[in-house]
Amino acid sequence: PARVDLTSGGTANLVMAQTTQDLIGGGLGLSTPVWGIGLHKALADGIEESVPVASPGPTLVARADTPVVLTWQNALPARHLLPVDVSRHWAFSDTGYTIAENGVPAIVHLHGGHTEARSDGHPEAWYTATGTVGSLYQGPRFTHENSQEAATLWYHDHTMGITRLNVYAGLAGFYLLRDERELAHIAANRLPSGPYEIELMVQDRTFRPDGRLAYPAADAQWPGQVGTHSQFFGEVVLVNGKAWPYLEVEPRQYRVRLLNGANSRFFRLSVNGRWPFPVWVIGGDGGFLERPQLLDRPLLIAPAERIDLVLDFREVAGGTFDVGNDAAAPFPHGPAVTSPTDRVMQFRVNQPYDRSVPEPTLPSALRESAYQVPGTPVRTRRLLLAQTIHEDGRAVPMLGTCERGVLGWSDPVTEAPGYGDTETWELYNATDQTHAVHLHLVQFEVLGEAPFEAEQDPETKALSRVSLGSFRRPNGAEAAPKDTVRVPPHHMLRLRAHFDRRGEYVWHCHLLEHEDHDMMRKFVVA
Ligand code: C2O
Ligand code: CU
Repeated sequence: PARVDLTSGGTANLVMAQTTQDLIGGGLGLSTPVWGIGLHKALADGIEESVPVASPGPTLVARADTPVVLTWQNALPARHLLPVDVSRHWAFSDTGYTIAENGVPAIVHLHGGHTEARSDGHPEAWYTATGTVGSLYQGPRFTHENSQEAATLWYHDHTMGITRLNVYAGLAGFYLLRDERELAHIAANRLPSGPYEIELMVQDRTFRPDGRLAYPAADAQWPGQVGTHSQFFGEVVLVNGKAWPYLEVEPRQYRVRLLNGANSRFFRLSVNGRWPFPVWVIGGDGGFLERPQLLDRPLLIAPAERIDLVLDFREVAGGTFDVGNDAAAPFPHGPAVTSPTDRVMQFRVNQPYDRSVPEPTLPSALRESAYQVPGTPVRTRRLLLAQTIHEDGRAVPMLGTCERGVLGWSDPVTEAPGYGDTETWELYNATDQTHAVHLHLVQFEVLGEAPFEAEQDPETKALSRVSLGSFRRPNGAEAAPKDTVRVPPHHMLRLRAHFDRRGEYVWHCHLLEHEDHDMMRKFVVA
């Protein structure tokens, strides 16, 4: 993606619009209508920088504690690229609005941002190209103070009930945040930088024969009905909007900011089950690890997670490496992945070594000490992830509390941390699949996880008589600042977060089909 430098702050105008791209490649000449993001930015002396509409959108590079103001224009057509299920709660429920008359609702959220509530892209703050707006609309201007450490953030649509469709259509991009510590590492040549720092967004898509994006309208179980599926798995893996691309590299170290931008699919990446060159994990969603960790296994990444890596190609000059995926879908107990979804991308170590750029030496310490959330926890919340069956018979995963059981989007808020409080959240996953739980506003500290057994109320899904098995501490990128975390089936995951902005935010599963229906809850800091 194009990079846009916002490190000295200021404003930029972004637009969401339809365009066509050759996602499939291979000389087939198929073009796919997608929804992308374009940008205009005023430089000095009336000069404008602009980036054409593309998906993924431009990578915005910002600097810690240097605010930027982004204005997002919705210029999407009055017709969705994909079938919309209007039988479930979504942006236009409870009104007479239609996409044909009112346009497509959209709202962008900066994922992982320590953002004021009014600029956070609340699911009910959507707006359309015709000026129809959601109940919490506060305008199209978003202020990001960037009051947090260097991080691999990303932006994406967050519209009530159709996030899965708007993101699948293409509305997503990276937002890299730099800080003094990272810039010092770069200045001292302790991290690969410039052309040797690359962002990779991995997604899965299914195509129609003519190249258009396919998203199933009807569930096989529900013929004739535009179904909201409880999961979606595409057939073809895209990296930065290209199917099975290759990257030509020099025999040197590269920094790779990896993002799983898929709707529901987990990726477990490796070259035939291993890494034939050293791969160092240096950070997670919201910042660096204390020290680089050599990766000795395939790399698992759930939707919305980011992993900051250094790939060392020095000893493999001339090699060609196919990175594959072997994560079951749904993860971890679904069917094994089959061709062609097991193909991700290729590295070709075929470029001449540029001797004018000195090879970096990774530091033994990336940060002063392991990431810790400030403050002493004032309470522990016991929260629930459970599977329910909707009255129409469709499966609906939901959130709630262990005591009360499952709760929906419009049930009263149960998570209301006090302003400035630090809390411990325990996420009890009573379902058979791994969920990727995301909290807005915070970068939390993962304390660890344990299997549990419990009795479950058949109606409410509330848990009682919970007993925990042995506790596992975080490893790899889980020990970095995190905003999205995998909660394995029948495990409790414990995290600690510090809530230091007032207002209404959301927490949800980031499998987008789950988020839309109905695994999302508000939380309020007062
Ligand atoms: Cu990546 Cu609530 O979102
Ligand atoms: Cu989920």
